[in-house]
Amino acid sequence: MNQSEEPFSAFPGVAEAVQDFYDRYPYPRPVESLDKYRRLWQDRERRRADYHLFWPARPYREGHSILIAGCGTSQAAKHAMRWPGAQVTGIDFSATSLSCTEQLKQKYDLKNLQLHQLPIERVSDLGMTFDQIVCTGVLHHLADPDAGLSALRSVLKPDGAMHLMVYAPYGRTGIYMLQEFCRRIGTQPTDEGIRDLIGALQALPPGHPLESLLREAPDFRHEAALADALLHPQDRAYSVPQLFDFLHRGGMTFGRWIKQAPYLPLCGAVANIPQASRMARLPLAEQYAAVELFRGTMLTHSVVAYRNDRPGAPHPIGFEGEAWLRYVPIRMPDTVCVEERLPPGASAVLINRTHTCRDLFLPIDAAEKRLFDAVDGHRSIGAILEQPDRARSFFERLWWYDQVVFA
Ligand SMILES: C[S@@+](CC[C@H](N)C(=O)[O-])C[C@H]1O[C@@H](n2cnc3c(N)ncnc32)[C@H](O)[C@@H]1O
Repeated sequence: MNQSEEPFSAFPGVAEAVQDFYDRYPYPRPVESLDKYRRLWQDRERRRADYHLFWPARPYREGHSILIAGCGTSQAAKHAMRWPGAQVTGIDFSATSLSCTEQLKQKYDLKNLQLHQLPIERVSDLGMTFDQIVCTGVLHHLADPDAGLSALRSVLKPDGAMHLMVYAPYGRTGIYMLQEFCRRIGTQPTDEGIRDLIGALQALPPGHPLESLLREAPDFRHEAALADALLHPQDRAYSVPQLFDFLHRGGMTFGRWIKQAPYLPLCGAVANIPQASRMARLPLAEQYAAVELFRGTMLTHSVVAYRNDRPGAPHPIGFEGEAWLRYVPIRMPDTVCVEERLPPGASAVLINRTHTCRDLFLPIDAAEKRLFDAVDGHRSIGAILEQPDRARSFFERLWWYDQVVFA
């Protein structure tokens, strides 16, 4: 591991407070075993689906270079395990977090993983560029997130892809109320402060905006998660329009949501409201912004973003013309086809188990089920379809509902 000594932020007080916070409360909670994770990602089809989520038009390969920026305690080790043929670089400014990752590297003999104690703002010191940059749960903690995103863009290859996750505001309303509560009464991120806070949260009145989160997010029961959410010295959230502006200022374009169905007026319960068809006529970015407001519960936004000077269309998937017939649908892992207790007229219901919104299920009829059963990850739509017109709208729906990616 390398250590940098020079100041790296125009807001040194904030950066030091955040670094100190993560040295004392590394997040996520350190893990000792990645055995289960390794078993999951030994499945080549899972890796193919993951790869084509970022690069639908690029031939599949496993030897890409990956930067995990703000890697925390385990994320870089996980990626090195997920992609044994790739070169993975993890950077973080928290020595504690890096030492947790270093232990995983030793334990699993991850020779393809390099770790550096380095602030994101100084990532170009590595003198490297990357095919993929993963930066989740980090940029919203920087004093100057724009500077962080620009620094990351400067080390992204022209046809590279970024996976970014930032906080979303409306679902976090209760969190921001409790953060403000803690600031006002002077609760500090110390073991004692966290213990007292846990005690206080048990007395939170029913209907408080934080209540459902405490109930539904099991992670919240752990001290590190609680500190990360409620006692963090620096955090901001981005609504959909703010996120698009952030990407634009950073020289990036929006590619897709990691999961897109929750943002679409054509998917789930939103599709049945009287305003659905009017919403669906809006430009896509406006549709996403409207659905975010209507759902009101999103905690984070996870996106695939590309450099704005990348050659070709920002995202090559479209259902105009005839190109879609050449797409090879690959089932998303974690999707299931349910054939019991079906709604009237349905032969099955498709569910992506990683969707947290319960309304995002896709009923399909008998003909659609035959098409879906024919998806083997290798044949193109053209090779498996029965009736071209019907197939177009069906495969488009599978795509919007996060049931497939295309290669
Ligand atoms: C919430 S954790 C997320 C960890 C990891 N990305 C994940 O999703 O599991 C945020 C991490 O970013 C690191 N971090 C925050 N600001 C940073 C900066 N300016 N430079 C480098 N690392 C930073 C913290 O030390 C911490 O480990």
